[in-house]
Formats: sequence, C-alpha cells, structure tokens
Amino acid sequence: MNPHADPFLHFAEWFEAARADDPQPEAVNLATADADGRPANRMVLVRRWSSEGFEVYTDTTSRKGADLAANPRAALCWHWKGLGRQVRVEGLVTRLPDAQVDAYWAGRPRGSRLSAAASHQSQPVESHEALAKRLRTVEAEHGGQEVPRPERWGGYLVTPLRVEFWQEEEFRLHDRLEYARASTGAPWVTRTLQP
Ligand SMILES: Cc1cc2nc3c(=O)[nH]c(=O)nc-3n(C[C@H](O)[C@H](O)[C@H](O)COP(=O)(O)O)c2cc1C
Repeated sequence: MNPHADPFLHFAEWFEAARADDPQPEAVNLATADADGRPANRMVLVRRWSSEGFEVYTDTTSRKGADLAANPRAALCWHWKGLGRQVRVEGLVTRLPDAQVDAYWAGRPRGSRLSAAASHQSQPVESHEALAKRLRTVEAEHGGQEVPRPERWGGYLVTPLRVEFWQEEEFRLHDRLEYARASTGAPWVTRTLQP
C-alpha cells in the first residue's frame, strides 16, 4: 500500500470507496477506558471528520462520557466488509465547542432530538415503557416548538496519533500501513506492518 501525504487524505479516499459500497460507512466502534484502565466499546457514528480529527456526538453524561472525562483517549475501528478494509485510529480526545455541537444538533431529525432530550444515556430506567412515556411528556412539553439541545448532549474530537489502514489480501497476507506521530504537531511517520 502506498502512503499518502497524511492519513486524512488516505482516509478520504477509503471513505469515498466505503460510501459507494457500504450501507452505513460512518458506523464505527469506539473504545474508551475508565480511570482504572478498564476498557469498554460501543458503536457510534462518525459523520464529520477533517484534518483535525474525527467527531463523535453523544450524551456527555453517558458511560463513554465518564470514561473520556477521566481518561481523554479513545480508539476507533471501522470495518468495511465488502471492501475487505479496516481502519484503526488511536488518539487524544477533546470536547467540541458548543457552536459546533449546536450545528450538528440542528441537523438531526426532530425525533432523534426528542429522544435525546428524553433519555439520560447509560442511566438505568424502570422499563422501556417508562422511557417511552417520558418521551411523550417531552414531546407534549415542546409542542411543535424547537427542541433545545440538552446541556449534557455534546461532541468529542478524536485527534489521531496513530492511524492504520488494513487491506485484506489473499491467503491472509494482509497489507497494513501505519501512520504515527509522537504528538499532534509532529510529522507523520509511516511503516508497513506484518499481518
Ligand atoms: C450503528 C450504531 C450507531 C450508533 N451511533 C451512536 C452515536 O453516534 N452516538 C451515541 O451516543 N450512541 C450511538 N449508538 C449507541 C451506542 O452504541 C451506545 O449504546 C450508547 O452510546 C451508550 O453507550 P455508553 O453507555 O457506553 O456510553 C449507536 C449504536 C449503533 C449500533
């Protein structure tokens, strides 16, 4: 695999190919760890990314939010099965500014905004029916009005220090290309890794 000038250009090319092939190319596994180093992972959507990093939107009071407050590092892993490709990102996590989160919130469907307003992500609830009831209450409170973003709902930027592109090859002689940098300002160094 030939290195690009940086991993974002490489990601752009692969994401374009995934968009043409995969029904949900933005679905990605997000791994975090708590203050004691205990890992946890779950799927999220990364719909926005740039040369700054990858954006994740969620409830900041969720389990992942608590992990990230205690330990602001994360890993992302995409698998685009049809293309036989995996992309792994490891990096530092910061909160996205409110204006950016507001813009993302405004672009979400109204139903999703209402659900996010009704749900305190990762907290226990008496039953799913109780939550559905709370959603109806929130819906009635807002009538046809705008649904304001709850303060707890926010976004994170994962700034990569390591990105790996993995291409499936015949007989498991997969092609792995790593881009790594010592810090966010440092140059990217590439290496080919054995499968
Ligand atoms: C394909 C897919 C995409 C998801 N996207 C998001 C997302 O963008 N943000 C989010 O908060 N949860 C998303 N979820 C739900 C999370 O997987 C998870 O259940 C939730 O964020 C709570 O995780 P936590 O308790 O570890 O914080 C998604 C789930 C799936 C299956």
